[in-house]
Amino acid sequence: MISAHGGKLVNKVVDGQEREELLNKAKSMVHVSLSNRDLVEVENIATGLYSPIEGFMNEEDYKSVVENMRLADGTVWTIPVVLGVTEEKTKNIEVGNRIALTDNKDKVYAVMDVEDIYKYDQKREAQKVYKTTSSEHPGVENVYSRGDYHIGGEIHLLERIQHDKFNEYRLDPKDVRKYIEDKGWDRVVGFQTRNPIHRAHEYLQKCSLEIVDGLLLSPLVGETKSSDIPVDYRIESYEVVMDKIYPKGRVFLSVFPAAMRYAGPREAVFHSLCRKNYGCTHFIVGRDHAGVGDYYGTYEAQEMFDNFTKEEIGITPLRFEYSFYCEKCKTMATTKTCPHDSEHHIGLSGTKVRRLLREGKRPPEEMTRPEVADVLIRGMAENN
Ligand code: ADX
Repeated sequence: MISAHGGKLVNKVVDGQEREELLNKAKSMVHVSLSNRDLVEVENIATGLYSPIEGFMNEEDYKSVVENMRLADGTVWTIPVVLGVTEEKTKNIEVGNRIALTDNKDKVYAVMDVEDIYKYDQKREAQKVYKTTSSEHPGVENVYSRGDYHIGGEIHLLERIQHDKFNEYRLDPKDVRKYIEDKGWDRVVGFQTRNPIHRAHEYLQKCSLEIVDGLLLSPLVGETKSSDIPVDYRIESYEVVMDKIYPKGRVFLSVFPAAMRYAGPREAVFHSLCRKNYGCTHFIVGRDHAGVGDYYGTYEAQEMFDNFTKEEIGITPLRFEYSFYCEKCKTMATTKTCPHDSEHHIGLSGTKVRRLLREGKRPPEEMTRPEVADVLIRGMAENN
């Protein structure tokens, strides 16, 4: 089994007697209420999804990640994992103390050892991580909406978030690792997505399945921008293909709880490291991975991996070119395998596909499986 990033899977989930004691002590600590998105981050840290990170980043790690794509100790890490608060909130928090992290109803989910409280440069982060300072970029908009200060420090999780959806697909890294181990899979490819499955996705996944033992479908269920397809239908589209179009026993569906950053190249590396923490040995990176608009080049996410050695990343990126259906080849292909002119390649933009679905029409079968189209048509109708 591949090691977690940094060598050891982090576990900051506290239970039993110790949990009771901390919950009791938390009553007299300063309470800081977190957004749902930040509470999910607490859980992601605690379950080891972000190994080797054990808490929200202190100033040293944060700056090092923003500037050099590495933690202060040199370990590769490309996306800040931070807790932003307003200046007002920092006033009653003291460095060296423990604080309680709560939801907006003051329910305690975790405690945090406050290591430092620091001001940071939002524009600098935007430019370095997202390559733009435009607030039109959804990831940058999120940076700008954070408080002006970060609180850094180790966390200890006391309470799990209760979800009313997809609980059967919400596995912690240790549980996904156990599944992989039980299956006896040596080589497992991870697939990140924020979209319903289409034929190009299927092509990348099935090409990969030809050369590895198993596929971890890891659709993102954290926050996405509002124009992305609602998560319920994305998951249902996966259930449909797993039932009808995928080989039984070789594909495993387990959701990825993190929020989408839309940070393209940097997020591709982050996505791959998280999948390594789930136990994947390989990770699919196609065209414009985690991109939005035209902020990043088509293959920039793939090129990003060249900044690091194989040993530093640990997981192997499987790079795929833009895939399409070729009428002449009568199959999915890329320019690596298809000799025909682009006029024979079927490709509709996401906007066009959405328009068809909204009108209750199935996109061409060469783009979307009819079974999947029907789920999405229903999704569009229910959300109008
Ligand atoms: S992402 O934001 O999660 O990357 P999406 O769900 O569209 O978006 O893509 C999931 C993965 O499939 C990414 O690695 C992406 O690069 C790849 N991908 C999507 N469509 C294509 C395509 N037509 N050709 C090649 N790769 C693709």
